[in-house]
Amino acid sequence: MGSYVPSRRLTNSDLEKLVETSDEWITSRTGIKERRICGENEAASDMAVAAAQRALESSGLKPEDIDLLLVGTVTPDFRLPSQACMVQKKLGMVNAAAMDIVAACAGFLHGLATADAYIKAGQFKRVMVIGVEKLSSITDYTDRNTCVLFGDGAGAAVVVASDEERGIISTFLKSDGRYGELLWIPDGGTERPLQSLNGQGRVYLEMNGSEVFKHAVRQMVEASEKVIKEAGLTPADVTLMVPHQANIRIIQSTAKRLAISMEKVYLNIDKVGNTSSASVPIALDEVIKSGRVKRDDIILMTAFGGGLTWASALIKW
Ligand code: UT7
Repeated sequence: MGSYVPSRRLTNSDLEKLVETSDEWITSRTGIKERRICGENEAASDMAVAAAQRALESSGLKPEDIDLLLVGTVTPDFRLPSQACMVQKKLGMVNAAAMDIVAACAGFLHGLATADAYIKAGQFKRVMVIGVEKLSSITDYTDRNTCVLFGDGAGAAVVVASDEERGIISTFLKSDGRYGELLWIPDGGTERPLQSLNGQGRVYLEMNGSEVFKHAVRQMVEASEKVIKEAGLTPADVTLMVPHQANIRIIQSTAKRLAISMEKVYLNIDKVGNTSSASVPIALDEVIKSGRVKRDDIILMTAFGGGLTWASALIKW
């Protein structure tokens, strides 16, 4: 694993100067105290490269050893080429196939499940999965409903074929496109191109927060129950839960319904906010680096996001 967050902090008191909000409201309703925001010349691919280099270092592999690069993101540097091709170029990952996965906050876990399936099918042996977001680029800093939530960052994992009975045990992916408009960017795609809107396009992320909240808890519980059951385990067997860091109340409700105590849940939402695709891999990297994870631990990861999409993965460390 490897991760990277920009050095610039955007605190709740900074946001109090931008919109009508308060540290008390943001902290009590979301659990967020600050988020990290890219510097002026920092692209999403730069964060992805930094996280990837750290993951390669900890795996002992070189860029040319990777045969598949999967990048989960909704904030690529360009619409074309893909973010994965940008990252491939910057890393010199010359032997890899590269493609993006657009599943919003569930993007990293979609990538992890895809890596697992390709490895099991024998098509690729060493896969890098990255979740990266520069959400500050699609956040409207005049909209208090969204701007208090989001931050920038990247996390990366190296997944390799192995005969050992550890690693990814089970994964679950699901989506429901009927709810796409609960969390979306309305304009700028091919349906309503910016050129046709005379500069009036809605190009920032818009969200119906309370509706997304309800789906989030239901779906993360469903996805978590599926991977635990498929592994022949029970929630009591989970040593550590690493959830998507969207809202402390969503995490608490999900853990409660799964009967997993909050002591087993890793949280960094107070420091980084919601970083979408990057959220789970940043948290996983941090908790591993902290020394808290021991051999044979069962780690449950779960996420939900725009689409709507949701996913879980269970790993034995
Ligand atoms: O990764 C997936 C992405 N999405 C999410 O994770 C979002 C899921 N949803 C949430 O986390 C929560 O719904 C929010 C944190 C976005 C909002 O919390 P809520 O408890 O659902 O609040 P609400 O939207 O029902 O709004 C309650 C009140 C409203 O005022 P009125 O209408 O009751 O007078 C809002 O206008 O809070 C107001 N409000 C704020 N007040 C101060 C909304 N945002 C703010 C704010 N500061 N930043």
